[in-house]
Amino acid sequence: MFFRKKSKTALDAARMPRHIAIIMDGNGRWATGRGLSRSMGHSAGAETFRKISEKCNELGISCLTVYAFSTENWSRPAEEVNAIMGLLRRYLKEASVSLIQKNVRLHVIGDRTNLPKDIVESIEEIHKMAEQCTGIRVNLAINYGGRREIMQAAQKLAYDAVKGLIDPEKIDEAALESRLYTAGLPDPDLLIRTGSEQRISNFLLWQAAYAELYFTKVLWPSFGEADLLEAIAWFQARNRRFGGV
Ligand code: IPE
Ligand code: IPE
Ligand code: MG
Repeated sequence: MFFRKKSKTALDAARMPRHIAIIMDGNGRWATGRGLSRSMGHSAGAETFRKISEKCNELGISCLTVYAFSTENWSRPAEEVNAIMGLLRRYLKEASVSLIQKNVRLHVIGDRTNLPKDIVESIEEIHKMAEQCTGIRVNLAINYGGRREIMQAAQKLAYDAVKGLIDPEKIDEAALESRLYTAGLPDPDLLIRTGSEQRISNFLLWQAAYAELYFTKVLWPSFGEADLLEAIAWFQARNRRFGGV
């Protein structure tokens, strides 16, 4: 039994989402509303990510996938892209260690082909360190796009077909799924988007087919434990039909 801070309503431990996905939006608005630079909003957002990951781990959620940088975010001014890459660089080197010490199985998903080389090296290092962890699997989506992910899975299928490893006749949903970045993980049950917008912005297009969508006005750096518990309570009140009756 878990209790929500605001209302003290108990959460049902038997109906916890297995996989939560979060579009961590609103860092820029959080910062400008306080007279700070947008990059300070991203730093504050990174701290929220750490806290929410730890809370999800405590709650026994088995998987958390968060959207940190999209394939479309490269279109932002170079100054902001550089600030975000700098932050990720530092984050992957330092803060990730504290998550791994807390038994969080940190994993980075996304297209690595156009990421700076040292960032790719840090990602490989993290994956190695996280192998010893047994707690929550946290996927940090960097240079992630749902279309890119599905396109790359299709490309892998094509290569495998050409190599004679798979018969095109036998390509099914499981075959494509096993070539996604999230291969082997359950689909997200609950998808949270902070920062007011009500759109998917190219996140987990395949995996979120039956996710419950939760939108909140809270800007990501302000999203706290109570907000997380509120979202889970909302999720538990949904009637999931998966196309049935
Ligand atoms: C989300 O916050 C983080 C990234 C997309 C990198 P934003 O930077 O999009 O913040 P807003 O939406 O402009 O407030
Ligand atoms: C989605 O936020 C991407 C991330 C949170 C990383 P955006 O701020 O990029 O989305 P749009 O542009 O409002 O759709
Ligand atoms: Mg935004």
